[in-house]
Amino acid sequence: MTAQSELQTTVEALSQKGKGILAADESVPTIAKRFKAISVESTEETRRAYRSLLLAAPTLGEFVSGVILHEETLGQYTDDGTSLPQLAARQGIVPGIKVDAGKIPLAGAPGDEITQGLDGLAKRVDAYKRQGARFAKWRAVYNVSDTLPSRLAIEANAEALARYAAICQEQGIVPIVEPEVLIDGDHTMARCAEVTEAVLHEVFHALHRHRVVLEHMLLKPSMVVPGKAHAQQATPAEVAAQTIRILRRTVPAAVPSVNFLSGGQTPVEATANLDAINRLGPQPWQLSFSYGRALQEPALQAWKGQAANARNSQDALIERARLNSAACQAQYTAAMEVANRESRLE
Ligand code: 13P
Repeated sequence: MTAQSELQTTVEALSQKGKGILAADESVPTIAKRFKAISVESTEETRRAYRSLLLAAPTLGEFVSGVILHEETLGQYTDDGTSLPQLAARQGIVPGIKVDAGKIPLAGAPGDEITQGLDGLAKRVDAYKRQGARFAKWRAVYNVSDTLPSRLAIEANAEALARYAAICQEQGIVPIVEPEVLIDGDHTMARCAEVTEAVLHEVFHALHRHRVVLEHMLLKPSMVVPGKAHAQQATPAEVAAQTIRILRRTVPAAVPSVNFLSGGQTPVEATANLDAINRLGPQPWQLSFSYGRALQEPALQAWKGQAANARNSQDALIERARLNSAACQAQYTAAMEVANRESRLE
């Protein structure tokens, strides 16, 4: 297969209607934080147990087209010897890999951050592909204040995202380009919109400069929302209107799918907002999810590190995946939450 047809096959598999992506690629410190909240020690073994459980959840493949894995997970096996990427692939879920090496302060720009990991990336991507990965993720992070992010941070992160995406495509790996405008802070929704517009504009400028084929990538942006500490929070209809306004200004129609991150929204908020976005009608791109916390939080709570809770944990994951699948098709209602909870209590 040529790199182009390989990329096309993966893009089509990932952007199936009514499906989204499960982000299960938390770094070692981040998963430790999530496990601590449920009083579970984070070890290679507990991480393997938890992620095996997620990937084995029955019917997950009906709602999820791809899963983003951590490098460690790519080389792990279930108790019966199936590799975890294979476990996902068996359900028709395309395995992907987080390839960035995390963020550090950006020199010369106090308060801004830059994502690292470009050195040796082509070699690493080649090795991940041999282990079963078909797509990749790189996350750039933008802190928001009256003055942040600086032009320097916007330009430097766009450049890194574009270099990453070009390297992936050359290796036949579909890049997910993730610029995350953080929800932390007390900024207004208008400030988030302004920053998101500047960020996306610069990202697509850099992607063009680096000859990235837009048809063969996915965008994973944050939604336009007020800062978490802002006094006035927004309704799903307001989030949808502002998010679509900014995306229509900045994201070329050639991009096949936009898969939002949840970024600290609660699971119900993330689903309601995605549904409202899809209710605004057809857009040039598919609008779906690539959630980490918003899909996994209820599953983590149900699991609590106990093998005996595995089934309940899988049910909680499937419930969120199914509701988000409905939201992709503008078919979610708040009543579905109550109905689900009641039927589980019966
Ligand atoms: P959240 O949905 O929890 O923001 O995670 C998505 C992700 O992959 C962050 O890089």
